[in-house]
Amino acid sequence: MKITIVGTGYVGLVTGTCFAEMGNRVTCVDVNEQKIEQLNQGIMPIFEPGLEELVKKNVREGRLKFSTSLKDSLADTQLIFSAVGTPPGENDEADLRYVMEVARTVGQHATEYFLLVTKSTVPVGTAAIVKTILKEELAKRGMQDMEFDVASNPEFLKEGAAIKDFMHPDRVVVGVDSDRARDIMTKLYQPFTLNGFPIIMMDVPSAEMTKYAANAMLATRISFMNEVANLCEIVGADVESVRKGIGADERIGTRFLYAGAGYGGSCFPKDVKALYQTGKQHGVEMTLVEAVERVNARQKNIVFDKLKEAFGGDLKGKVIAVWGLAFKPETDDMREAPSLVVIEKLLEAGASVRAFDPVAMEETKKHLGERITYCKNLYDAAEGADAVALMTEWKQFRMPVWNEVQTAMRGNVLVDGRNIYDPAEMKKEGFRYARIGRKFE
Ligand SMILES: NC(=O)c1ccc[n+]([C@@H]2O[C@H](COP(=O)([O-])OP(=O)(O)OC[C@H]3O[C@@H](n4cnc5c(N)ncnc54)[C@H](O)[C@@H]3O)[C@@H](O)[C@H]2O)c1
Repeated sequence: MKITIVGTGYVGLVTGTCFAEMGNRVTCVDVNEQKIEQLNQGIMPIFEPGLEELVKKNVREGRLKFSTSLKDSLADTQLIFSAVGTPPGENDEADLRYVMEVARTVGQHATEYFLLVTKSTVPVGTAAIVKTILKEELAKRGMQDMEFDVASNPEFLKEGAAIKDFMHPDRVVVGVDSDRARDIMTKLYQPFTLNGFPIIMMDVPSAEMTKYAANAMLATRISFMNEVANLCEIVGADVESVRKGIGADERIGTRFLYAGAGYGGSCFPKDVKALYQTGKQHGVEMTLVEAVERVNARQKNIVFDKLKEAFGGDLKGKVIAVWGLAFKPETDDMREAPSLVVIEKLLEAGASVRAFDPVAMEETKKHLGERITYCKNLYDAAEGADAVALMTEWKQFRMPVWNEVQTAMRGNVLVDGRNIYDPAEMKKEGFRYARIGRKFE
């Protein structure tokens, strides 16, 4: 099939590349000229394991190309995916301006039947708005009788495992309101269903809602465990034991039950807030959803609070090594990363920060500039540090050579924001160690 993907970010680039890998002819379009120019030179705009190889292979084999002109691409395709950003708007509701812009451009230039599929995360009712825009634009050109469909196909990939998630989805959710759209989407996803990955067809509003409900549920599990961890710390229970104890119940399951320094990224924070706002707009108070975000905002301060406690409330002149900056491992995405909250508070308190992340330092510079020292590895970051704060659980942080870390440091405080170290071992190594849900020992 011939496919146009509009918006060549994390979702658009991965979607386009994976559809190309399945044999389709794909054009990825973006308004960001620099991004398209770089992609045409084989330079990836994002870090995502396995992406570069797959992009280059599909470009070489003639199935994938990049363009800045949606108009040109429309001349050749009837299947269009909109994967543009939907950042938080003024009141935390999703800002749909890019989604609407795409609809407008499609309506202005389409010349025959098309199916416009929204892959971006958009609130319930967006497809109806898109449809209205398309009708208006077609009518302006006297083409009000031209047939078209809109569909919803929310994306569930995780950054850091995006290719794997796209190619091996737990499920594909598709919302349609016509047989023609259903047939096209069924055909497109046939290689996936043939491999046993289920496609769940539903109406459009349900598909739009499924994405928000999924993200809010996952975020709820994280905030729940963070709240439990904070109580464990006070009452002397071990949250890691509690996690294993409840995760063994198959009704609960083991995943997304890790206490930590708070969730971040481009999805959970904005989608949880947007769902709450959708409820509010429709007069439905979503108390639980609102609390999930509130718990998370508080949790992002926990590592800072522990560092402050370690130094009797005064961080002035202290040197803090921050291990990991990205909001999670295997990505360079710094959007809403808890590390940014911790670092800002440290700087405000008069501490200096030596940071290291395997891939996210360039992205971090866009947020923090030269206000912190960027180091070449975790040992370099520990040089002269009074404390180390682990913020992202990259594999290479799991088993450092501790005596080298200690030789580099001038203090011995270690705050583990992701609960990856063993408290007894850290004590033996001579650290004053604290983690989420556990006081300093
Ligand atoms: N990042 C994720 O892990 C993830 C996962 C699932 C769903 N989503 C959702 O997918 C959507 C896209 O997210 P993302 O992380 O890929 O965003 P992104 O910011 O990485 O990419 C969006 C791209 O759209 C481009 N764009 C904006 N307006 C355009 C237009 N009119 N024409 C062409 N291009 C345009 C931007 O230049 C940008 O490159 C969002 O709704 C997001 O919530 C993201």
